[in-house]
Amino acid sequence: MCVFALEELRRLRAFASRRLQNPHGQQLGAYLDTVDWTAALRDRPLVPWDMSLGFFTPFWAGLTEEQQLALNHWTYAMMYFRIGDGERFVVNTNTVVADVVEAFEPELAGLLRLETHEEVDHIAAFTRVFAAVQQRHGFVAAKMPVKPLRPLFISRPFLRLLVSAFGADFVATYYLGRGLVNHMGKAFETRVASLGEGSPALTKLSLLHTVDENRHMAVSRMMAAASYELLHRRRRRSALYEAASRAMQRTVVRYTFSDRITTNQERAMSLRMLPQMRSLSAVAPEVLRGCIAAHFDGVTGIEHAKNAFMPRFNQRLMERACLSGHEKRMWFDLLNSLQRNLQFFPEGWRPGDGLVTEAFDDEPPAGSAPGSGGAGPGRRDDRLPL
Ligand SMILES: [Fe+2]
Ligand SMILES: [Fe+2]
Repeated sequence: MCVFALEELRRLRAFASRRLQNPHGQQLGAYLDTVDWTAALRDRPLVPWDMSLGFFTPFWAGLTEEQQLALNHWTYAMMYFRIGDGERFVVNTNTVVADVVEAFEPELAGLLRLETHEEVDHIAAFTRVFAAVQQRHGFVAAKMPVKPLRPLFISRPFLRLLVSAFGADFVATYYLGRGLVNHMGKAFETRVASLGEGSPALTKLSLLHTVDENRHMAVSRMMAAASYELLHRRRRRSALYEAASRAMQRTVVRYTFSDRITTNQERAMSLRMLPQMRSLSAVAPEVLRGCIAAHFDGVTGIEHAKNAFMPRFNQRLMERACLSGHEKRMWFDLLNSLQRNLQFFPEGWRPGDGLVTEAFDDEPPAGSAPGSGGAGPGRRDDRLPL
């Protein structure tokens, strides 16, 4: 029984109408055109120092300032490259889901397409910064490693196949996964956006991104809750179908959250790119490899930030998602088993153990009418980074 489905669907429809009236458009690329952001790459950190690759390893103290700066900038480039990977997935999945709901929920389809325009803008803006970081540190030649089978998983025909085979089961799975990813990105980016010693021009770019992403985070939660109201559960669910649906969910969770897959990608990216960086080419190869290994074997600064931010948000997302209790426990156990360092949920909590009762910033106070003025649903998170 999905306790929150109707409430979240009402909120989602009101949110869609309001956003389409005031869509903002593509802001990040336009913003970069108005400021001098490249000067910052000379000597300013781009992420908090404790997030830098190698910061918590014994190798850090032996590096020069320029080498530490290169590792700091690399962390920024690597994280936004990975965020861009997720954004390309959003562009394709939102387009496929928008095509399916267009006929009966045109405003919701419009909202999903608006999100894709925003993501296209985000990808383009951070790609520009990435290219400038490449120029600054001299790692221009090689292609970045991506997760295995990525071209298949991200392709629209494949996503259309998943939506037609699994309907609401896939849509709920995708947006629940997307919500968890949104929370991880937010944990990283909130700290980047408030980096006092960083470049005001680039911290503002991250701040603008968090404003858009706060809305995407709310949409992920509402879509995960309301998918079965939108597309309806299949009437005939054979044992074979149930097994296939579970396998689909497990594959999505594993592919998105497995520490082995994600950390291996980051290790591979770092092993390929760091030796090319001008200042790091002076470091002995075995020292650089040792630093990369020690960084990813330990708990990174970014993982600390995720653990501080995401448990309560993930709890609320999971409580509201319209999955059965059995499925939620499957997600919970699988997520925990796939990770070494991340804590997805509050200590001691399991799905079914009780609800989050506090008001969150992106929800209206209890009792206010959906779509009403003032602090209506989504209105505050249209403006405020959380
Ligand atoms: Fe984005
Ligand atoms: Fe997004």
